[in-house]
Amino acid sequence: MPHFSYRDGEFCAEAVSLKTIAQRFGTPTYVYSKAALIDNFSAYAQACRQHARGADAALVCYSVKSNSNLAVLSLLASQGSGFDIVSGGELLRVIAAGGDPRKVIFSGVGKSREEMRLALEHDILCFNVESIPELHRLNEVAAGVGKKAPVSLRVNPNVDAKTHPYISTGLKENKFGVAYEDTLSTYQVAASLENLHVVGIDCHIGSQLLDDAPLLEALDKVIELVDQLEALGIPLHHLDIGGGLGITYDEEQPVAVGDYLGRLFARINAWRDGKHQGKPIKVLFEPGRSIVGNAGVLVTEVQYLKHGASKNFAIVDAAMNDLMRPAMYEAWHGVKQVTQRAEEARIYDVVGPVCESGDWLARSRSLAIESGDLLAIMSAGAYGMTMASNYNTRGRAAEVMVDGDQLHLVRKRENPADLFALESLLP
Ligand code: LLP
Repeated sequence: MPHFSYRDGEFCAEAVSLKTIAQRFGTPTYVYSKAALIDNFSAYAQACRQHARGADAALVCYSVKSNSNLAVLSLLASQGSGFDIVSGGELLRVIAAGGDPRKVIFSGVGKSREEMRLALEHDILCFNVESIPELHRLNEVAAGVGKKAPVSLRVNPNVDAKTHPYISTGLKENKFGVAYEDTLSTYQVAASLENLHVVGIDCHIGSQLLDDAPLLEALDKVIELVDQLEALGIPLHHLDIGGGLGITYDEEQPVAVGDYLGRLFARINAWRDGKHQGKPIKVLFEPGRSIVGNAGVLVTEVQYLKHGASKNFAIVDAAMNDLMRPAMYEAWHGVKQVTQRAEEARIYDVVGPVCESGDWLARSRSLAIESGDLLAIMSAGAYGMTMASNYNTRGRAAEVMVDGDQLHLVRKRENPADLFALESLLP
């Protein structure tokens, strides 16, 4: 993980020791590197500048669900990012962070009327619609506010993303998108509705993809549809290929962003020069994990060590409510000792205080630790804090952004009174 390294035996984010952060803000705490976020976003921005035809020919819409902290959003907005949202709440976050609603695309299978109205009032770039009933609802809501809603259809290209079944979305049996064979007829419905304006096409086949072959296969299928739609008198202005690029958690070697985008634009540009007859089309991306995943860690303190006959446990103060990924997907996250010790290491399961056997963060790790030591759970920037809950009435962790030798508290730790503030006793 670039920008996270040992300096004088202490594990640091940029130039700040995680020990300093823990002393100042307590644990568990999510720590993000500003430089890592900028580098990861720039990989997309630079590849778009290099390969996309025309200054306005590509837009990176960061997927807010992966990490929605306002400081993260405002930093990415300052770098020119657009945003991919899945709720009205995420739209309000983008606006509060200074993001431009006209660079927002709204994904998701279950948009409510209120969410549609809010998005229309803010003139978002596009609704990624996933079904015919949703088209009708959006048409009705748009009529109510006197606007035409810009729409793309999310197509399910029936491509196997070869990733964890819970984060694979592009197969026939998934709940997402319009079935490939129904695409043209669904577009005809969209085009016939008075308060909709058909502007694009969208797909997203899954997450944590290490290879770009399935993404390029999906692209080819989408391009074919663009040509067929054009022949039916439905020209499109943009093509949205979704997010999904994976990161290194352990030993994975995901395709580099620049290489993937190079191959993708090579296909798009060849198609534009050939079959598409030189007509412009804007390309949108919805990356989340590949921007924030390796820009954040979760710092936690060892509470107790339990040495057993068959297993040793390191009980830490972070739990499944803070980082859900291991419990939910059996996800592997690296564990680093914030301070290295000379003592002999033992094999530990790193577990939290929550009353569930599924409450573990890492299994069978070799660590030389004592009670009171700090650990960094690695690659926790994406789908960490955003999936956190208050289970066991545990306040959610603090969040800190490091910028060189500066640190900024970007979310205070929740305290228990915050957690039941919205509840009331019976009269
Ligand atoms: N666009 C859409 C429509 C999505 O559903 C997603 C993620 C993205 C973009 C961003 O995908 P990314 O670039 O981050 O792969 N909680 C799971 C991941 C769920 C992904 C949901 N959709 C995890 O922790 O692995």
